[in-house]
Amino acid sequence: MCNDSDSCPEASESDTSREEWRCCAALPCVCSRNHRNATEQFSIALGSWKEMLGMTKPILVVTSRYTREVEDRIDRDYNARRNPKPFPFSRQNLLSAAEGADALFITPADRLDSGFFQNISPTVKIIATYSVGFEHIDLEAAARRKIPVAYTPGVNSEATADIAMLLLLGASRRAYEAQELVRTGAWRPLSPDMLLGWQVGGKVLGILGMGRVGQAVALRARGFGMKIHYSNASELSTEIAGDAVYHEDASDLLRTSQFLSLHAPETPQTRHFLNSKAISLLPPGAIVVNTARGGLVLDEDLIAALKSGRVAAAGLDVFEGEPKLHPEYVSLKNTFLLPHIGSATIETRTAMGMLALDNVDAVLNGRPAPTLVQP
Ligand code: DGY
Repeated sequence: MCNDSDSCPEASESDTSREEWRCCAALPCVCSRNHRNATEQFSIALGSWKEMLGMTKPILVVTSRYTREVEDRIDRDYNARRNPKPFPFSRQNLLSAAEGADALFITPADRLDSGFFQNISPTVKIIATYSVGFEHIDLEAAARRKIPVAYTPGVNSEATADIAMLLLLGASRRAYEAQELVRTGAWRPLSPDMLLGWQVGGKVLGILGMGRVGQAVALRARGFGMKIHYSNASELSTEIAGDAVYHEDASDLLRTSQFLSLHAPETPQTRHFLNSKAISLLPPGAIVVNTARGGLVLDEDLIAALKSGRVAAAGLDVFEGEPKLHPEYVSLKNTFLLPHIGSATIETRTAMGMLALDNVDAVLNGRPAPTLVQP
């Protein structure tokens, strides 16, 4: 919150006057003079200039709800067409909302397939997704309509890596079962063999996809005494990889991974990467973590391995078809499950929203967008 109570309108604003999803005392101030970056200052100046000339604000379709700072910027700079419901627009409703709009601000819950692009309003000049993943958008169909697609790389790495470590530790130390004991009152006097888990120190952590998130996980896991191995489209420089061991072939990575953490994008090539064949290569009793995309895992195969103990435990933040997930994950005790909260910190979600809006602003004002997806 802003401390500049004399000059900052945000400082005196009551959070209780806002809807619940926009309230948070921990949010940083949006309007303190020294918090704004150059892009935002430019947008503010441009907005005031346009208002003076009586120009209307561009129309932005907003399919979800964001942190207060992001919502304030949307209100200030756009005529927002908002989704009034707490669930995604249907395809038809999104197409209707896009009629005559300048831009769409979407999330991975909005699936934009080729049929969508065949019918999208010709007024739409950019689509910005609030995510680093873009498997929910048919990029070729977007390119055929000459609509640029922007995403939010680079700003969610730290938060997502934190959640990967939470899953790794939660799965290996049987945190779900431990929570259950405490919460159901089933905890009995200490027995030396109660809830024995698997130590992480000294073990090999295999990282599939050593991009920004993979690197941030490696940094954290080293602090827990883990040895890092990785597989990636190309080998990283020693400066970046440090002592991490590179495996050109992902099968070799699997053979050595006592813990495996997935950080690859979902593509036709990586879809269902973790299937029974891949699992058979892991050391017996390996532990699997996924904060990337649910589609990387073939659920039936992982569930069978969790039931047999071939995979000792899994920590999962993402699921194919989420928010629905395979029901057997929930009934298994050796799973530690989260509802896709990898990037869910106020700081990260605000940075993602701001970056998405930077892209929209840039394209609508004839400037190069900072983070366009390259098809
Ligand atoms: C991302 O940025 O892709 C995260 O998974 C949030 O959707």
